[in-house]
Amino acid sequence: MKYYLTTPIYYVNAAPHIGHTYTTIAADLIARYQAMQGREVVLTTGTDEHGQKIERAALAAGRTPQEFTEVISAEFRSQWKKLNLRVDRFMRTTDPRHHKTVQELFTRCLNNGYIYKGSYTGEYCVSCELYVSDAAAGAPCPDCGRPTETVTEENYFFKLSAFQDRLLELYESQPDFIQPETRRNEVLAFVKQGLGDLSISRTTIQWGIPVPGGGKHVFYVWFDALTTYMSAVEGEDRWPADLHLIGKEIVRFHAIFWPAFLMAAGLPLPRRIFAHGWLLFENDKMSKSRGNIVRATPIHEVMGTDALRYFLLREVVFGQDGTFSYDALVGRYNSDLANGLGNLASRTLSMIHQYRGGVVPAGTAPDSVIEAATKAIAAVRTAFDRFEFSRGLEALWNLLSVADKFIVEQSPWRLVKSAEPGAGERLEATLYSAAEVVRIAAVLLAPVMPGSAAKIWEQLGFTSAVESERIDQLVWGGLPAGQEIGISVAVFPRIEAKPAIEKMRELEEAETRRQKALFGKQEPAGPAPAPLADPITIDDFAKVDLRVGQVVSAEPVKGTDKLLHLKIDIGEAAPRTIVAGIATAYTPEQMVGRKVVIVANLAPRKLRGIESQGMIVAASLEGGQPILAGFLEEAPIGARLK
Ligand code: ME8
Ligand code: MG
Repeated sequence: MKYYLTTPIYYVNAAPHIGHTYTTIAADLIARYQAMQGREVVLTTGTDEHGQKIERAALAAGRTPQEFTEVISAEFRSQWKKLNLRVDRFMRTTDPRHHKTVQELFTRCLNNGYIYKGSYTGEYCVSCELYVSDAAAGAPCPDCGRPTETVTEENYFFKLSAFQDRLLELYESQPDFIQPETRRNEVLAFVKQGLGDLSISRTTIQWGIPVPGGGKHVFYVWFDALTTYMSAVEGEDRWPADLHLIGKEIVRFHAIFWPAFLMAAGLPLPRRIFAHGWLLFENDKMSKSRGNIVRATPIHEVMGTDALRYFLLREVVFGQDGTFSYDALVGRYNSDLANGLGNLASRTLSMIHQYRGGVVPAGTAPDSVIEAATKAIAAVRTAFDRFEFSRGLEALWNLLSVADKFIVEQSPWRLVKSAEPGAGERLEATLYSAAEVVRIAAVLLAPVMPGSAAKIWEQLGFTSAVESERIDQLVWGGLPAGQEIGISVAVFPRIEAKPAIEKMRELEEAETRRQKALFGKQEPAGPAPAPLADPITIDDFAKVDLRVGQVVSAEPVKGTDKLLHLKIDIGEAAPRTIVAGIATAYTPEQMVGRKVVIVANLAPRKLRGIESQGMIVAASLEGGQPILAGFLEEAPIGARLK
């Protein structure tokens, strides 16, 4: 059985923040959860790169739209990679394969009589890329509050008005087409008011996909963007999607426009749309344009991706708004992961090591524990099937506390010394029960915290991969008696809140500076520059041989998260090896092909056992984040800087 799910394709007007990561993490969880039920899963995401908003953002950054979208789309890809998010296809709206699919969809709608040309004058919100109906000139946009602009143009229109009844019929006959219920009601009410036709092209924008036979017309963003869901799996026999996972602000586009486009084209409809709520930061909606942003990578660097995944899915009721805060993140980590799961696992495993020589005993668990576990498995599955992740995790943590209580009740540390008849059996039953609960937790948590679940799995002595377990076949008793367990190392070491939070904030600021530099925007006046070094003569300077080089290959240096091992071509017979402390700011993929300035006559020195033959020149910011020097024009490899 196949399962195809999607995240929205994100705008490339700025780099990803934790809101985008939230959707992508949830999608990753669902993908893993479905795969662990034997489904053949494809998860697609991507970037939405056309439109006036992006044209303008590029202009403000002093780039062409092509350059600008290239850089930011790469940021999304490298971010998902860093966070180990499962992304099977990454579709960009600038991909020519996508253009073809959009044009084909249009032609089908046109041939079926649902497209016409008309003139349109309206108040248009550039930021939301939407006309605002019945608005006075310059009225604020109801979604973002920015003033609208009066626009008149000839457009291609889509006859959305023709689909009111069919859409209502769809929502009635498939009550779970739009979830959760609140969103469904919202959409129902909206459609019941009546639907106007939809302008789907522009002549005022150049940065878009040409309308076939449409002269200067390019597609309006939503006709273009939504179609990525099809182009991402073109030729794969995947359509229709099982699930479009989105944020609540774009539910109308997905639940009204998208099925109407598909109906008009005579194509199958997606099976379900789930709209989650907003992640707020300090009780405000995080937004790229407002600048109150938290990103996932600093959190990942300090606490690991799994801590973030767990927090987001446990703390926020999926479907409702929720608040992110560093305090709550560290608090939950320590209480639920370090103390809760981590403690149960390490205590259980170390008792098996101490009392039974590291071999799982053959104990008969009491019915009460088996029953609690069986109920918890069912509860987690039901909840996850309904996208109620926090409820599922709560049910699992209830089971962990049943196991904890059982251990305390039985007190293996007393049983091991007891001469009472049956003490040995009780000891073995307790150890087995606790370890089996840990095993069940590892399987159920594999979609939620893949890295940590894999570690626990290995510590339990399994040599297989936890994600090849079947959640739909999970029952009590899968831990084989006699299995030798591995070494027990804390999977969730306790984290001290204050320094961890300080570090995350520091990295967040450094990331903001790096991105500002990357996207070419003007840096606001910063702190006073550091005092100048002592004067030197031109001869002193001439001793430094600076060269233009191009990065040929880049890879992380093992055992450190700061260093990259680079090969740089400066026009010599073979590329130079240079080890540079730039890994917190640049991924290897970002480095390959990039032109850099290097100090070419620096005495070689060894870093982590690798001989570094030179140094890369970079601006060094507060907090040590580097920004590499580069050229705006083409600089030939090997050229000397004087
Ligand atoms: O809307 N809380 O792109 P976008 C939770 N390109 N989720 C958030 C969030 C927050 N604070 N901020 C963003 C677009 N998201 C269009 C979509 S789809 C065919 C085209 C997530 O960059 C959430 O999934 O504005 C939301 O729907 C999406 O990012 C919007 O990303
Ligand atoms: Mg948005």
